[in-house]
Amino acid sequence: MEQLATLEDLPKEYVSTLTQSNLVPLWPSLRNVLPPNQPIPQTQATAWHFKDIKPLLLQAGELTPIEKAERRVLVLANPGHGLENMKATSSIYLGMQLLLPNEWAPSHRHTPNAVRLIVEGTGAYTTVEGQKCTMEHGDLILTPSGLWHEHGHDGDEPVIWLDVLDLPLVYYMEASFVEGGDVQEVKGTDRGHRYAKGIVPTVHFVRENSGYPLLRYSWKDAKQVLDALAADAAHQGPAQISYVNPETGEDCQKIIGYSAIRLAPKEVVQLERRSAAQVFHVIEGQMHIDINANTYELSRSDTACAPCFAQIDLINNGDEPAYIFVADEAPLQKKLGLYSTRARI
Ligand SMILES: [Fe+2]
Repeated sequence: MEQLATLEDLPKEYVSTLTQSNLVPLWPSLRNVLPPNQPIPQTQATAWHFKDIKPLLLQAGELTPIEKAERRVLVLANPGHGLENMKATSSIYLGMQLLLPNEWAPSHRHTPNAVRLIVEGTGAYTTVEGQKCTMEHGDLILTPSGLWHEHGHDGDEPVIWLDVLDLPLVYYMEASFVEGGDVQEVKGTDRGHRYAKGIVPTVHFVRENSGYPLLRYSWKDAKQVLDALAADAAHQGPAQISYVNPETGEDCQKIIGYSAIRLAPKEVVQLERRSAAQVFHVIEGQMHIDINANTYELSRSDTACAPCFAQIDLINNGDEPAYIFVADEAPLQKKLGLYSTRARI
């Protein structure tokens, strides 16, 4: 493609007259906003190790009482986007959150969709629209856009979880805001028991939280399915599950997609190059991950992100299976007609 003229090629007086009239010439920026053949991502391959995060998060617990923080979170920020912008990818926010025994994070609801993946500790719970969801290691709990949620902790050890939100996208759209609420009345526990082995309840009523019948996906159940897939000789390809709405089979949330992969000892999984940026978080085991020219060793509770169209290899060098949680921007891109894949290089 032809090299285009730059801003410096124009007379200063002309540019200044344009500026005074709130006008901008397109051609000096055209190759940036419409780069040839594939996007130029700001998202950089980045890894965050839990051994670095945990002491700093516990220190935050000493430095700032929960009342003064509301949510005590360290944001996993991608340097490619500028740390102050608090993005892991263009659409995904990641935060590691700490709740200490007897602490309570007050009820609120907001426009960005959120999930939390429980990293460490027991005894905490999230109440979503009156449904009390216990938080155990590896569980995925949804708090979709507009649903009231609060966190409490009846246990005796710190609980840490990974928050994943579509905040960067919603903020960019100038649609991000939060409302505070009263303590919720608990009306029941999570409804995982209603959705088992292809059986779903027949709906005879207009349900609250329409579109989100299941709010807690238990890791114990997810791991069982992954192990069964790995043991099934008829199953082709890597053992991978998707977190979906059990009544429709669609992605469990509208913007970010969630899945999990099991890597057998010594297994190598070469992912196709996808237009959606991705996040990887180790639930159990360890993994060596190659993202383009970058290599990271990830242990339990470590997190990494990869830009669009990255060439990614997941390698389990250990003697135990590794279980990896994955978040990606595919649901959003598919809805917008922007999703595509490329052959590996
Ligand atoms: Fe929230």
